[in-house]
Amino acid sequence: MNIIAIKNLSKSYDSPQGTVPVLANIFLEVNQGESIAIVGESGRGKTTLLYLLSGLDQADTGNILINNHHIDQLNETELALFRANNFGFVFQHHFLLNDLDALDNTLLPLRIAKKFTEESTNEILELFHYFGLEKRLHHFPDELSGGEKQRISLIRALATKPLIIFADEPTGSLDKENSRLLEELLFELTKKQNTTLILSTHNINLAQKCDKIYSIDDLEQ
Ligand SMILES: Nc1ncnc2c1ncn2[C@@H]1O[C@H](COP(=O)(O)OP(=O)(O)OP(=O)(O)O)[C@@H](O)[C@H]1O
Ligand SMILES: [Mg+2]
Repeated sequence: MNIIAIKNLSKSYDSPQGTVPVLANIFLEVNQGESIAIVGESGRGKTTLLYLLSGLDQADTGNILINNHHIDQLNETELALFRANNFGFVFQHHFLLNDLDALDNTLLPLRIAKKFTEESTNEILELFHYFGLEKRLHHFPDELSGGEKQRISLIRALATKPLIIFADEPTGSLDKENSRLLEELLFELTKKQNTTLILSTHNINLAQKCDKIYSIDDLEQ
């Protein structure tokens, strides 16, 4: 079954220097449980595509069907709820909230999606332990390194056991050992939970672990 079906998606940005065309006529179909790597040179539009697919930005043209919902037709409140219930995010800009500590940041999506239980808290504590972050539970984002923030945003993305995880360069600011841990965990848990994974990366080893690799050019018709 297609969990994602994208047709005719186009996006350009307006800037003081004029219109910047980025994506033209993107087509993409993804099955439930599949992992997809989007690759391409810097500036080609990978982050833009992930923003559109996950409803964080709006396309100029096209249809986005996710789990049989036309997310481009939802209003802002419906879209926020749909995201909270269905998506997990690991993005270049980590979006951790500065006034919550690490643990509360990871628990927030569970609270929003009303999936908060004692068992889910225990699962999250296990993930902190897995990443060697058990001493950072009560640190605030500005008391954490870039790599620590990235691992915490992965824990947050996995917390609600989402239908789809969007990950933009998830290993971007990690050292070799933490990249390995993150990859291992990402693929182990997404396989176990039949989560669909859409990631962008310059890391060819990470891309090769996915079921399919597409460049933006492959997706434009
Ligand atoms: N708000 C904006 N206004 C104008 N241009 C933008 C804006 N956001 C992105 N762009 C341009 O759109 C293009 C695509 O950007 P995007 O961030 O999607 O690339 P990317 O493939 O993710 O690159 P990277 O690998 O460096 O992360 C770039 O040329 C960028 O300069
Ligand atoms: Mg990018």
